[in-house]
Amino acid sequence: MKVAILFDAGSDEWSPQDVAAVVGNVHEVRAVLRRRGHEVELLPVRLGDFRWLSRVRRVDLVFNLCEGINGHARYEDLVVGTLELAGVAFTGCRTWPTTICHRKHVANTLLSAAGLPVPAFMLAQANKTPAEFPLPAIVKPSAEDASVGIDNGAVCTSKRALKKRVALMLEQFDEVLVQEYVAGREFNVGFVGKRMLPVAEIRFDGMPDGTWPIVSYAAKWIPGSPEDEGTVPICPAEVPDELAARLGEVARQAWLHMAGGEGYGRVDLRVNEDGQPYVLEVNPCPDLSSNAGLARMGRAFGWTYDDLVMQIVDEALMRSQSHSAAAALVSGVSAA
Ligand SMILES: Nc1ncnc2c1ncn2[C@@H]1O[C@H](COP(=O)(O)OP(=O)(O)O)[C@@H](O)[C@H]1O
Ligand SMILES: [Mg+2]
Repeated sequence: MKVAILFDAGSDEWSPQDVAAVVGNVHEVRAVLRRRGHEVELLPVRLGDFRWLSRVRRVDLVFNLCEGINGHARYEDLVVGTLELAGVAFTGCRTWPTTICHRKHVANTLLSAAGLPVPAFMLAQANKTPAEFPLPAIVKPSAEDASVGIDNGAVCTSKRALKKRVALMLEQFDEVLVQEYVAGREFNVGFVGKRMLPVAEIRFDGMPDGTWPIVSYAAKWIPGSPEDEGTVPICPAEVPDELAARLGEVARQAWLHMAGGEGYGRVDLRVNEDGQPYVLEVNPCPDLSSNAGLARMGRAFGWTYDDLVMQIVDEALMRSQSHSAAAALVSGVSAA
């Protein structure tokens, strides 16, 4: 099979670490596909350069690792939309989940309208700090991911601190979300298609005193920082069966509702002291590196990294076949 791996070519602002993270994963996936005997082409995507589009139409499958264009995450869904329009088979989520999950206030609105448990939230507006908003509250950019904009000052315990934090965030981001802070354990549940992987927990036992137990930017991106050392992923999570079942049920509903169970993703949740799970977010196409969360969950499920990559390939091919069968049926009907 001919496979094209699509990825963001990046920008001049990218650090060597940013480049290494993207290229490293592209090479890992290429190695898996080659080991399985596939012919692999690497296709970087750049703004205003559509050469990749003519190339993808000549392959059997696009392995889409493009998380944006020139470092701008807001273009990620446009790449997926273009693949859908081109009618090629591609891995990962479709356009709609990619679009809605990038705007946390939109995603939260849809999740709560479907009856899923979401912590109270509102979109912040300049000079209109929510007077009665429950405290503590966390302030986060609505249209970012990877913990951008989240540090120890993100959690506010007083109205004054909340007002200040909202003002600071609005200077940097167009849309800012204020959300009720859920004090409790944090879990992730991964999916490939409709298949659920074992529940993972992020343990915060080693967080330095005075630091909120949250996955901050430093925890995610500054190796060796106290926040990084203090956040330890454990998979499978050590939880009673009943809690694992409740987490799995909420995560599955969120995943099916937002992504239709197509592609691969990860649902982030917190559980309050009464054992009630809350959905923090649904992540379509999370980091697929062999040292990231989804691969860890895959290993707990009994999959090697190669297995995970190939399960993602199989899911994409099955989906594309059922869509082509449906399209053939429709064109047959309209021709008759
Ligand atoms: N409502 C909340 N209550 C408690 N912690 C939260 C809440 N929202 C976010 N966090 C913390 O911030 C981290 C990042 O938030 P998240 O909504 O998952 O955004 P991102 O897209 O940046 O991963 C979470 O992993 C969690 O530790
Ligand atoms: Mg998250």
